[in-house]
Amino acid sequence: MTSDTIAAPRTPAPSRRRGSNLEKWGWIYMRASGVLLVVLIFGHLFINLVAGEGVRQIDFAFVAGKYATPFWQWWDVIMLWLALIHGANGMRTIVNDYVMHAGTRRVLVWALWLAAAFLILLGTLVVFTFDPCLGVTPGSELAALCTA
Ligand code: HEM
Repeated sequence: MTSDTIAAPRTPAPSRRRGSNLEKWGWIYMRASGVLLVVLIFGHLFINLVAGEGVRQIDFAFVAGKYATPFWQWWDVIMLWLALIHGANGMRTIVNDYVMHAGTRRVLVWALWLAAAFLILLGTLVVFTFDPCLGVTPGSELAALCTA
């Protein structure tokens, strides 16, 4: 039997390598994060687009209000981390499946993790350091509120 032939049913599994199995944990992560993302993404869409005045309520004040609330800060940050790691790991699977050249594969997978890490860092900083009064100039719409 060559290695690309599917084994007969009930063939005993070949002996496993010892140690942690990163691919298995990656597979479990995709399922677990998928379940959490359903709740986080649909909750996010409901609150932003359906509840209250719906899509018309979204403006600077709406976003500033959400980022002044630890609950929504954490909601968005957890969604950001889970989705970016999920997306990058899913793309890694696709790259591993389709890119035949080992060097190209390594470069692409590195690029994926670097892009994900950069966006996670940037997004987390934005959510936790957001200040609606930053850069407000006298006479602007927010000046009265911010200097009060
Ligand atoms: C409602 C939320 C989501 C659920 C329930 C979900 C679920 C899943 C599951 C179970 C897999 C594994 C499929 C497999 O192994 O065959 C997967 C793969 C993937 N997901 Fe998600 N996902 C969600 C959101 C997202 C988001 C927001 C992104 C992008 C940031 C994303 C990008 C991917 C990619 C690129 C793959 C790999 C596809 C492949 O292997 O062909 N997913 N998703």
